[in-house]
Amino acid sequence: MRILSGIQPSGEAHLGNYFGAMRQHVELQARGQGIYFVADYHSLTSVRDAELRRRLVRELVLDYLACGLDPRRSILYRQSDLPETCELAWLLTTVTPMGLLQRATSYKDKLAAGLQPDHGLFAYPVLMAADILQFASDLVPVGQDQKQHLEMARDLAVKFNQTYGREVFPLPEPHILEEVAVVPGSDGRKMSKTYDNTLRMFWPEKQLRKAVMAIVTDSTPVEAPKDTAQALFQLWSLFASKEERDEMFARASKGGLGYGDLKKDLAERVLRFFAPMRALREDLARRPDEIEDVLRDGARRARELAAPVWAAARAAAGLGRH
Ligand code: ADP
Ligand code: TRP
Repeated sequence: MRILSGIQPSGEAHLGNYFGAMRQHVELQARGQGIYFVADYHSLTSVRDAELRRRLVRELVLDYLACGLDPRRSILYRQSDLPETCELAWLLTTVTPMGLLQRATSYKDKLAAGLQPDHGLFAYPVLMAADILQFASDLVPVGQDQKQHLEMARDLAVKFNQTYGREVFPLPEPHILEEVAVVPGSDGRKMSKTYDNTLRMFWPEKQLRKAVMAIVTDSTPVEAPKDTAQALFQLWSLFASKEERDEMFARASKGGLGYGDLKKDLAERVLRFFAPMRALREDLARRPDEIEDVLRDGARRARELAAPVWAAARAAAGLGRH
């Protein structure tokens, strides 16, 4: 089984990305051939600074390797190391109905948020379809927010196959990571780079502690019962066993629990949980050549898997010499 997923290098990975995506990607490695890529082409739609992009790609690769992505078992590659993906995206673009893209909720959301749209942002799902279809991927683990993009990839596969009368692309199955609750940010909204409310697991210790202490809570006095729907409790629960959680929530509803103490405990738990990964990350960061080797090897292996699909798509469409 081929398992494919991509992550945009559009900011520093945070607890939401870890629990919502990265951890599952790492776990899924055991179930088949994992193919994970850093979606630097996709990040062109939001990051417009070359130096920043290079840095974010490097950081994300380090984050992934630190979090347990095993480059001997799985493929980890940089999207732009396979420029043929863009050719495939063009082949798919020419069979993409405008209406399909106009219905994309993530595009509509970005417009509503005041983003100046360009063609790249509009065509984003087509490039994503090319990422997926080029590997004849079986399983595509993504968050709920990406579900519609995945359905579009299926639609485009059908459209291309029908147009040229050949089964070039098998249909990928979405594997929506539904059981994963949305991780709240320090202000109680969904944790997201966009809201500037993130907690990054690999921040220097002091900065991480400071950010945890700044998590917004209500102003209930220590003696009063606490509302455990608050971000602080939800975040704390990510680092506690079920028994610990039940006990803490029972204590909270009785009253007598101080937010300051809970925050200190949360900071300790986050640091403890990520300590081995942090150590591995620091070690890897000292060997940048090795990172490049991982990406080069990843691109080579990814190319091997995608090449037959690229060739089949070109042949079906009558491009090049045959
Ligand atoms: P951001 O919202 O910070 O820009 P991305 O959209 O780049 O994050 O998300 C990358 C992956 O992480 C996606 O698969 C998404 O579903 C997951 N993810 C992001 N934020 C959260 C969150 N707060 N809770 C759970 N999963 C999240
Ligand atoms: N659009 C995805 C996101 O923002 C990233 C992505 C790009 C992706 N191509 C992909 C995810 C292919 C899965 C498969 O999170």
